[in-house]
Amino acid sequence: MTRMSKTYFEDLYRRDPDPWGLATRWYEARKYAITMAALPRPRYRSGFEPGCSIGMLTAMLATRCDHLLAADGMPVAAEQARARTWGLANVEVADLTVPESWPEINFDLVVLSEIAYYFDPEELGSLLDRVRQTLDTAGGHLMAVHWRGTTNYPLTGDHAHQLIGSRPELARVVHHVEDEFVLDVWEPRSPPT
Ligand SMILES: C[S@@+](CC[C@H](N)C(=O)[O-])C[C@H]1O[C@@H](n2cnc3c(N)ncnc32)[C@H](O)[C@@H]1O
Repeated sequence: MTRMSKTYFEDLYRRDPDPWGLATRWYEARKYAITMAALPRPRYRSGFEPGCSIGMLTAMLATRCDHLLAADGMPVAAEQARARTWGLANVEVADLTVPESWPEINFDLVVLSEIAYYFDPEELGSLLDRVRQTLDTAGGHLMAVHWRGTTNYPLTGDHAHQLIGSRPELARVVHHVEDEFVLDVWEPRSPPT
């Protein structure tokens, strides 16, 4: 199975502007609080949040980033994220599909929140290649946080985290797992001298 199709997300957003209840469910609110607490550094220079949906986490990450680029492949979602972060001068919301339109920008924070399991292993590998090319090797962090339940997605949350964790260029610095979700933070390993 390849990645979840554009039509899949279009149908979801047509039925409900907030298909996962990101703005209303306690699971999301609590997970967002843990996500923010798990970021190792108080501030980041340049963050990237692909798959930002309606911008709930975006608004929180904005408080910790000098500049934050958030993006979603669904314009209807990006529009909501833009409205939610309107007036925040450090936030830019783009209509972008990853990994193919990954920005040519250096980041010191990349956040994959509930998006990595929509890719098959090969596509997730391409996305992680882009992370490797754009994440600062000194002081950069890659965070991933995903639901662990059964879905019709190409990957489970656990499998997505295993694949990310198997990348030789990444060293894990935070690991939090509970029944419903898994959260990890990695930093780039120093190249061998
Ligand atoms: C579950 S929501 C993400 C929630 C959000 N990251 C959060 O934690 O609040 C998944 C989002 O990823 C977006 N998405 C899925 N595949 C994508 C891709 N290849 N590129 C960009 N966005 C994508 C969907 O349109 C959807 O809005």
